[in-house]
Amino acid sequence: MTADELVFFVNGRKVVEKNADPETTLLAYLRRKLGLSGTKLGCGEGGCGACTVMLSKYDHLQNKIVHFSVNACLAPICSLHHVAVTTVEGIGSTKSRLHPVQERIAKCHGSQCGFCTPGMVMSMYTLLRNEPKPTMEEIEDAVEGNLCRCTGYRPILQGFRTFARDGGCCGGNKDNPNCCMNQKKDHMVILSPSLFNTEKFIPMDSTQEPIFPPELLRLKDAPQKQLRFEGERVTWIQAATLKELLDLKAQHPEAKLVVGNTEIGIETKFKNKLFPVIICPTWIPELNSVEHGPEGITFGAACTLSSVEKTLQEAIAKLPAHKTEVFKGVLEQLRWFGGKQVKSVASVGGNIITASPISDLNPVFMACGAKLTIVSRGTRKTIQMDHTFFPGYRKTLVGPEEILLSIEIPYSREGEFFSAFKQASRREDDIAKVTCGMRVLFEPGTTHIKELALCFGGMADRTISALKTTRKQLSHFWNEKLLQEVTADLAEELKLSPDAPGGMLEFRRTLTLSFFFKFYLTVLQKLGQQDSEDKFGRLDPTFASATLVFQKDPPANVQFYQEVPKGQSEDDMVGRPLPHLAAAMQASGEAVYCDDMPRYDNELSLRLVTSTRAHAKIKSIDISEAQKVPGFVCFISADDVPGSNETGIFNDETVFAKDKVTCVGHIIGAVVTDTPEHAQRAAQGVKITYEDLPAIITIEDAIKNNSFYRHEVKIEKGDLKKGFSEADNVVAGEFYIGGQDHFYLETQCTIAVPKGEAGEMELFVSTQNTMKTQSFVANMLGVPANRIVVRVKRMGGGFGGKETRSTVVSTAVALAAYKTGRPVRCMLDRDEDMLITGGRHPFLARYKVGFMKTGVIVALEVNHYNNAGNTVDLSDGVRKRALFHMDNCYKIPNIRGTGRLCKTNLASNTAFRGFGGPQGMLIAEYWMSEVAVTCGLPAEEVRRKNMYQEGDLTHFNQKLEGFTLPRCWDECLASSQYHVRRSEVDKFNRENYWKKRGLCIIPTKFGISYTSHYMNQAGALIHVYTDGSVLLTHGGTEMGQGLHTKMVQVASTALKIPISKIYISETSTNTVPNTSPTAASVNSDIYGQAIYEACQTILKRLEPFKKNNPSGSWEDWVKAAYEYPVSLSATGFYNIPNIGYSFETNSGTPFHYFSFGVACSEVEIDCLTGDHKNIRTDIVMDVGCSLNPAIDIGQVEGAFVQGMGLFTIEELHYSPEGSLLTRGPSTYKIPRFGNIPIEFRVSLLRDSPNKKAIYASKAVGEPPLFLAASIFFAIKDAIRAARAQHTDHGMKELFRLDSPATPEKIRNACIDKFTTLCVTDVPENCKPWSVRV
Ligand SMILES: Cc1cc2nc3c(=O)[nH]c(=O)nc-3n(C[C@H](O)[C@H](O)[C@H](O)COP(=O)(O)OP(=O)(O)OC[C@H]3O[C@@H](n4cnc5c(N)ncnc54)[C@H](O)[C@@H]3O)c2cc1C
Ligand code: FES
Ligand code: FES
Repeated sequence: MTADELVFFVNGRKVVEKNADPETTLLAYLRRKLGLSGTKLGCGEGGCGACTVMLSKYDHLQNKIVHFSVNACLAPICSLHHVAVTTVEGIGSTKSRLHPVQERIAKCHGSQCGFCTPGMVMSMYTLLRNEPKPTMEEIEDAVEGNLCRCTGYRPILQGFRTFARDGGCCGGNKDNPNCCMNQKKDHMVILSPSLFNTEKFIPMDSTQEPIFPPELLRLKDAPQKQLRFEGERVTWIQAATLKELLDLKAQHPEAKLVVGNTEIGIETKFKNKLFPVIICPTWIPELNSVEHGPEGITFGAACTLSSVEKTLQEAIAKLPAHKTEVFKGVLEQLRWFGGKQVKSVASVGGNIITASPISDLNPVFMACGAKLTIVSRGTRKTIQMDHTFFPGYRKTLVGPEEILLSIEIPYSREGEFFSAFKQASRREDDIAKVTCGMRVLFEPGTTHIKELALCFGGMADRTISALKTTRKQLSHFWNEKLLQEVTADLAEELKLSPDAPGGMLEFRRTLTLSFFFKFYLTVLQKLGQQDSEDKFGRLDPTFASATLVFQKDPPANVQFYQEVPKGQSEDDMVGRPLPHLAAAMQASGEAVYCDDMPRYDNELSLRLVTSTRAHAKIKSIDISEAQKVPGFVCFISADDVPGSNETGIFNDETVFAKDKVTCVGHIIGAVVTDTPEHAQRAAQGVKITYEDLPAIITIEDAIKNNSFYRHEVKIEKGDLKKGFSEADNVVAGEFYIGGQDHFYLETQCTIAVPKGEAGEMELFVSTQNTMKTQSFVANMLGVPANRIVVRVKRMGGGFGGKETRSTVVSTAVALAAYKTGRPVRCMLDRDEDMLITGGRHPFLARYKVGFMKTGVIVALEVNHYNNAGNTVDLSDGVRKRALFHMDNCYKIPNIRGTGRLCKTNLASNTAFRGFGGPQGMLIAEYWMSEVAVTCGLPAEEVRRKNMYQEGDLTHFNQKLEGFTLPRCWDECLASSQYHVRRSEVDKFNRENYWKKRGLCIIPTKFGISYTSHYMNQAGALIHVYTDGSVLLTHGGTEMGQGLHTKMVQVASTALKIPISKIYISETSTNTVPNTSPTAASVNSDIYGQAIYEACQTILKRLEPFKKNNPSGSWEDWVKAAYEYPVSLSATGFYNIPNIGYSFETNSGTPFHYFSFGVACSEVEIDCLTGDHKNIRTDIVMDVGCSLNPAIDIGQVEGAFVQGMGLFTIEELHYSPEGSLLTRGPSTYKIPRFGNIPIEFRVSLLRDSPNKKAIYASKAVGEPPLFLAASIFFAIKDAIRAARAQHTDHGMKELFRLDSPATPEKIRNACIDKFTTLCVTDVPENCKPWSVRV
């Protein structure tokens, strides 16, 4: 049978594809076939939204054109027949006109690295196509499926808020007399001007939008006919009628039905599944119908979750409340489902048939007794979903020849109550730890139970019903006795084996009880509302808040900064909130990232082959299966390396493992093929056999086995023994801080192009480190560094993850290019990136602190252990920075800190924003909080009492000068109204038994400069062309932090010319050599100074021509200089003076200066679920005289939110064998829009010039990250209040809370009658699902 033509439209242009391959996604097609690289690949699994596009089609049921956002990475092109696709390129461009959405996200500073920006734009654009004047809530919902790792989300929301009909918070707009910031109690704030000017925005005019292609509109009434698309391995059949579908299913019982492809897409991409026949039923009317019947609403199985949501919302608005209890339960689950992009294509039938044990809908459908109609050729049956429907893991009663036709969700009845609950690691778009549906039906007018259903996901290998428990309660009354019996029985019935997948045994078991308790209270409350005489029992008012479902409050935020002095020239851009110079191109999709570069004609794709064992000998490598994959070119390994296979910062790594592997993810070789898809298949075909060796995975293992790199490092001052002997009190303990994945939105990427002459090679790399990329490749190829050119245009985020680990990819790609003589490209998939490239170091601290009754610290000893992984990489520097920051901001007269690097069989950990500083400081604040609790003193008082003063010496004997921390502290205390809010928090806690609030204020001090003096050098190169334009180059790379923007500002002020005359194109090793990695926050300091020096050289050379022609223009002087002739090219060089420190003598100056900041945060925890809400954060940050307040505030907010992820959400899980289990956004959660503090106020300290850096500015990239510890300790404060209700020690009790403070840790720490029922014994020989590394 011949294949059909696939016809669809992209940005108004018709696309006819004669060879549509069902395995091709829309994303791959757009980027590679159509050259539309604005749509980005961030994860490939529907979890980040970077690939968002808008689809439009004629909907026959609604009789209108519908627009919806989808993830292009999951949309097969074959699903797009007669659909119109709009990408970011289709709505506006800098060459013609930006779309208002693009313009506003750019001008409101909502784009830093810009990799997420096109996806954000398309989510917002789609909303506006459907609703030109949306509410703030609709805006937040629209972008909930989009991740950003840079901005902290606030500026994106603020930009999009300009489209909102309800406006929301004005963001401290000075001209608004009703600004909410000034409505608060006794504290009036001085507002700064807005960071952007809304008056200059292009107005939104929906009549200007591209129209739906008329050809598609004409086709809407044409009869649908069956279509067939044949690919290399898969056939796609689009059935036009139900009969066709059933015939096809009878013919191909093994075929998969694909509707949204949100499940099948993941299975094929990440689980290597192959489904040779796919049948698509989305055109069949019966599978899309919605019918309102006498007993419920029946949805065709292909109805999307968005349409189910909309229908149920409408029904709730119309029907009496007692009929819609179940509908509300379904909506509550859909509220926390994947983003709009997933819900607009994922089908209700797909969710049921996938039979995921953590499906959110199946427990609800089971508990309400939803009816399923199942058909096959010649048969039709309707069954009720009950405990028998899922006979095993991912199995249902639907047979191979059958399909699910529809589902009826029933109305609830009088006397029937329903609730659904879900708890995940992150509230929004996360898979559940436990999810449930609960239903009770009472005999009329009583609380006598007639029916009771408690159904759970996450507690077994399928959705289950707690039948033993519920059957016992029939005919019982809804009272305290029932509560006690049910919770005790559930604890018995829903046990988990100690090695259960997903781990978190006690947490998951406790959640089942907590959910029932919430249900119990909710029903009691609803009964109470119907019963004025209290005959059904009364709800304790302090318990009432436990029944409230989580509500999103409208965000409010404000930024304060100092305006440039009056009289500063309009052209002098230093100090002004200039948007990121590439923002408009980022928003329009024109900004070019490494993988966006057009493909070379003869280009090849590389895929790494990595170890599946943590520590093993390689016995054999068999590539015979790989060789059979079409397009296979070669396999490369250590044997192919012409130069040295040794590499790494300490030369302790290999380009390719030879004979032995030392971690899961260790690179053994690589396959090179014609396309990335073939490369993936070929890599899967490489078979490696191993002989396992003993592996060390955790810090504890390393300590036990004395497995360390290098020697111990120590900082010691004072007399520790004496200090401890004089102390009134000593507290000792242990504290663990988990690691963190960088999760830059753009994964590691390299293109290597051999030049064919004298060993020359050009590499385009997403790296922070051009120098090491160059030298490692040269070393591997055995050529001098002068043959290798490394070029970096921009990165889609780095955060330290591309400081050294990018070289593991670029060196391998360079070898492939060398061997084949052809350009080779590799962009890691998200799962590979997470597996191979390491992250932030986990730390274990053993501490002992001595203090007086007054809270004054007199002695401190901390032994720090970090999990370095299988190579040293930057771990030495990381532990040293942890030691330098072990004091945080406190003067400790007698102190000893030691640091050890644990050598383990994990992928090498590396630099990450803060570089060990945040870990060192978190440990400090941990023991500090214990000191305050032990003394019974307010924590803020103890912190302030121990704080350094101007002129004090730190524990490494550096004098503190320009110590603005006390000012930051006092301002933050005042602006946050700390003391008033402390009493409000205490009052809230007295009035609420199951919800608690916590408040905490935390300072930070961060040392600026590399501690190795030579690394603080910087070079710049300026070319002035004869038209007066300036090409500026410096050694720093742009990863979103706005470095290039700030450097153009510096050059503009130094040369006294407008920024429009200055351009930075890229960073490259052939313009500025021998550069340090762009890291350690120092880059605007050092490159700013180097640029300043270069500018001075140019100015000096122009001086005579200026003198000759004082009224001339810049162009006149440049032209005259050229004609004289004088060189119009200059270099600049700078090195921070006097840096150097000796650990042996504890003397010298490790830092040039310090950055300071303070944050106060308030949180609310749900003691029953471990969920938490960030209510408000106030930050005061000293950035000196800001070079660019918009960029600096962006850095403060972005770092804070990244720190919030580190300390409260992000958790890496490893198997006991050392395999990373969390390899993508579905399992590893970074903060989303919904996680940022509802009220977020950022203030840059005024009048605080820093004499040590360019134009009196200060470094900002890393220092604010630690301030997120205020959230961690506010959570601890809230937990303390909860525990005080259940333990004998009251508020004075010390308890352990490791970082991150996830829902699991919070719930387990809030010990109560439920947690005690769920204590789970784990036998010693049991292998748990995951271990703490
Ligand atoms: C980013 C993301 C977030 C997610 N979040 C959640 C979440 O929060 N909660 C949750 O529960 N799930 C979640 N999921 C899972 C996903 O939403 C559901 O599995 C979805 O409903 C599947 O629908 P689909 O149409 O995309 O399925 P497809 O991938 O198209 O198909 C899935 C399976 O269902 C079968 N199938 C589909 N329709 C029928 C039918 N009519 N008859 C017989 N078999 C059929 C197919 O053969 C296939 O085996 C998420 C998925 C992603 C990618
Ligand atoms: S790339 Fe598609 S959602 Fe991440
Ligand atoms: S700007 Fe959003 S990920 Fe970088």
